Amino acid sequence: MTGFVVWFTGLSGAGKTTVANIVEAELEQRGLVVDHLDGDIVRTHLSKGLGFSKEDRDANIHRIGWVASRIARAGAAVIVSAISPYEEARRHARSLVEPHAPFVEVYVATPLDECARRDPKGLYAAAFAGEIADFTGVSAPYEQPSNPEIRIDTTGVSPAESAQIVLDRLAQLDGVHA
Ligand code: ADX
Repeated sequence: MTGFVVWFTGLSGAGKTTVANIVEAELEQRGLVVDHLDGDIVRTHLSKGLGFSKEDRDANIHRIGWVASRIARAGAAVIVSAISPYEEARRHARSLVEPHAPFVEVYVATPLDECARRDPKGLYAAAFAGEIADFTGVSAPYEQPSNPEIRIDTTGVSPAESAQIVLDRLAQLDGVHA
């Protein structure tokens, strides 16, 4: 059995975790072995102690990429949801995975103003008030993927509908047995 990696990237509040959770549940429902590496959770374990400088974010993404490659190589489906704002770090993660399994980049392209309007954790308000340094999209960069396998914008779309778009596209990709 060949695994694969579905890597959600996008701004905080874009809907990565929400959509990824639904995709995860659906793949499990189909009988796949699935693991979900979510940035917020990884940062309480594997990346505990890392902050949000470029160096620390790169370390976080490299670690997630390495773990994802190991799990996918063992035959499971891996879902990653992390801001992963730097193109080079995402490319590195891809390069760790692709010798073993397909890597599917899902760009959750919900615009900044919609993410800030949702502000589910109150972080945008704090960032705009200058209380959080290096906040992605406000005081730290987000480098948009130039060639993602899948692109979704969750503005005005239900999480279930967004997840269905991802699942439909996954089913069309070569080598992905979703
Ligand atoms: S990444 O840049 O290294 O990929 P990751 O996805 O793991 O980020 O963590 C992002 C989460 O950390 C956000 O959803 C938010 O809850 C929290 N967070 C705290 N500080 C920041 C910050 N300065 N920039 C972005 N997210 C932050």
